[in-house]
Order: sequence, then structure tokens, then C-alpha cells
Amino acid sequence: MANLLDLTAQGDVATITDESKLPQVKLMTPQQLYELWERQQWVSHTIDFTKDKDDWAGLDDELKANLSWNLSSFFVGEERVTTQFTGLVAAYESQSEEAFLTTQQVDEARHAQHFNRMYEQVLAIDGTFEDRLNRAREDLNEPFLELFDVHLVNACDRLTADRADREAKVDFVTTYHMVIEGTLALTGQYFLTDFCQKNDILPGFLEGFENISRDEHRHVAYGTWYLQQAAKDPGLRRRIQEKLFELIPIAAGVLVPTGQDPENYSILGYDSEETNGYAFTALTRRLKVIGVSLTPEGVVS
Ligand SMILES: [Fe+2]
Ligand SMILES: [Fe+2]
Repeated sequence: MANLLDLTAQGDVATITDESKLPQVKLMTPQQLYELWERQQWVSHTIDFTKDKDDWAGLDDELKANLSWNLSSFFVGEERVTTQFTGLVAAYESQSEEAFLTTQQVDEARHAQHFNRMYEQVLAIDGTFEDRLNRAREDLNEPFLELFDVHLVNACDRLTADRADREAKVDFVTTYHMVIEGTLALTGQYFLTDFCQKNDILPGFLEGFENISRDEHRHVAYGTWYLQQAAKDPGLRRRIQEKLFELIPIAAGVLVPTGQDPENYSILGYDSEETNGYAFTALTRRLKVIGVSLTPEGVVS
């Protein structure tokens, strides 16, 4: 099975030169995604963690550590994508896009609230929201910090400096919506949800997490729509590819639990071949719709 690591071995960036090969898949527009957001509201602060507290207390230390690495990646990730989203909101090009983007920023704040409550009530980490975030940061690996604290922050800063800079906007959406959300978050959500469901644990956490997953699909749908529009310009299409080639090796590293072998690791019992394969499929499915290929031939098939 092809996986994310295969892409990191690619040496050259291919581009599509034949416009007729660009896909014509019709995607939801920012206006439709905004209206969907209005129909998909949920409340993070009424979720009941009673059984989650009992479940957590009954887990052994190794499983707690494995789960903490997964949960901390999401907790810190949600905080990062909330605060580092402002540049994109300011870079809207229509009223519908502005409306949708403001909803996404609110969503990310709500996601961080869910994890903060989980850390306070279930993992029993006292102090402030900031204290819990700092505690969660201790679980993270180097590639995570490089992607979220360097690449994402830089992408936001460049867009903030010039909101009309289309290349900066393409870089930002590729980093945020394609790599962070469309590749890493959707993969982590799939395996963490599956693990909790199969083991019948953490129902309160899962209730919020399933709502988060639904929100993330809406977010990724916006990113796919935006990049599909941008990719009609050959220069921007190549830029998307170059950004992906820059970030995919880092993203592959984000998936490696702290302290494990990058070539052969396991996340909650799911092996690296399986998790990388899922991430690869999540990314390449959307790239086909956008019209960007990572194959040397540059063919969308
Ligand atoms: Fe989120
Ligand atoms: Fe998101």
C-alpha cells in the first residue's frame, strides 16, 4: 500500500501542463459551507465526563501515556489553529468567504475548549487553560513543534503582512487545510475514534470529538474549494506542489509517537504502515479534486 513516506522520497516536483487534465469536480461553495455551519451547531460545555473519569482512572500507565500523546497533539493543535487563523480571515475575497472563515475560527476555539475541559476534568490537570496547554506541550515531538510553531506561524505572519498576496494565501491554505487538517487531523481522528469506540471508553470525549470531526470535514472542504480555484493558475498550482513537498516529510514525522522508531511505530496498536497509508489516501484523494499531482508524470488519475 502506498503511504506518506513514499511521497517524502520523491525528488522532483511534477506539474500538470495540459489544462484539459484538470478535474471538474463541483465542490461546496463558501456560502453553502457557511449555511451548513448554521445547521451543525453543538455545545462543548454541557458534555458529561462522568464515565470518562472512571475510564481514565482504570487505564494502565502505558496506555495513559499513549493516549496523552494523541490527545495533547490535538489540544495544542486546536489552540495553534485558532490563534494562527486570523491572517486568513482578513484575506477573504468575497462576503461569503468572509462569513465562512469567521465560522471556522470560532469552531477552532470551541475545539480547544473541549480539550481544555477534558484535561481539567478527566486528566485532572489543575491550574489555568494556559497551564494545561503547557503541560500538553511536554508530550509533543519535534516535527509537531516545527510544523505548528514555525511553518504555520510564518504562513500566518506572511498573510497578515499582505492580505492581497495570493501566493501567501495559497501557502497558508496548503499548510493549514491540506497538511494539518486534511492529512494529519483526519488521520488522527479516524484512529483515535476507532480506538475509543472498540474499547468502549471515554464517551464524553468521543461525543465532542465526533462533532469536531464533522467540523473538520467542513474546514477541509473549504480548503479544497479554495485550492481548486487557485490551481487553475499554473504558477499557483506549482506552488501548492512545492509547499506539499516541503511539508510532507515534517508531517510524516508528526505521526511518530514520541520516543518510537520513525520507520516502524505503533499508534494505539495501529502500525505505521496503516496510519501512513490512511494519511496518504486522505491527502491524495483531495489533491485529485484540486488538480495537483505528486507523481513524476504530473498526471491526475
Ligand atoms: Fe479544529
Ligand atoms: Fe479545523
